[in-house]
Amino acid sequence: MYQIGRKIIRLESVDSTNNYTAIVVKEGKAEHGTVILAVEQYAGRGQRNAEWLANAGENLTFSIFWNEVNLSVEKQFCITRFISLALLELLRKFEIDAKIKWPNDIYVGDKKIAGVLIENQLQGSNIRSSIIGIGLNVNQNNFDGLNGTSMALEKGKKFVLDDVLFSFCGVLNELSEGGTSMPLSTEANYHKNIYLLDCQAEFMQEDGSILSGMIKGVCENGKLRIESNGIENEYDLKEIKFIPQTV
Ligand code: BTN
Repeated sequence: MYQIGRKIIRLESVDSTNNYTAIVVKEGKAEHGTVILAVEQYAGRGQRNAEWLANAGENLTFSIFWNEVNLSVEKQFCITRFISLALLELLRKFEIDAKIKWPNDIYVGDKKIAGVLIENQLQGSNIRSSIIGIGLNVNQNNFDGLNGTSMALEKGKKFVLDDVLFSFCGVLNELSEGGTSMPLSTEANYHKNIYLLDCQAEFMQEDGSILSGMIKGVCENGKLRIESNGIENEYDLKEIKFIPQTV
């Protein structure tokens, strides 16, 4: 009955597991729940056209093909929300307390431990399927000036990559109860796990100006609510970018 991770395709080296999955999907050969994992990605992709860098063999870099998502495009943020919360749940199992830095970076303290790149296949105004790419820093110790952390750095010990991967599949299977529909009632849980909720933060706007405001939450459509000078506005990913906290 449980399908996430029932089939795992392991690749030694690939440009990006999301790209590879997209090809398998186009060929009509992808099965719901298949995990495509790479020891090394030589052109790993992040959000906003950023690259995703991860030392080969030390971390988890994988994509999950989620078929029959059964959501309208307006509700696509439900996928982001669900996956982010699943990652928090996974980390909790390993006694790591993490938060979601809007929209779907996973942070421990002020450092990034995981990132998610979701690419949907549409059919009209519906999401037919989704490629959920996840980069989770597991055993990497050095981030060369990047604002990163890993499970090993947080806990002071190494982890077996497969143990972490199987735990994550377990979390997804439990939360989705073995079905393909994305659980929708996750808003309250997402809200209370937002990084810097009700805190003052600074953002770079599209025109280069700085916006300083208090994070009030995230709307159903995924826009970030920021209160500045007593006025609340909603911003999407293209409109603002966090300016890193100086700690
Ligand atoms: C981000 O934080 O910007 C998202 C990072 C997503 C990285 C993962 S690693 C597996 C999958 N393949 C990719 O090329 N990207 C995602």
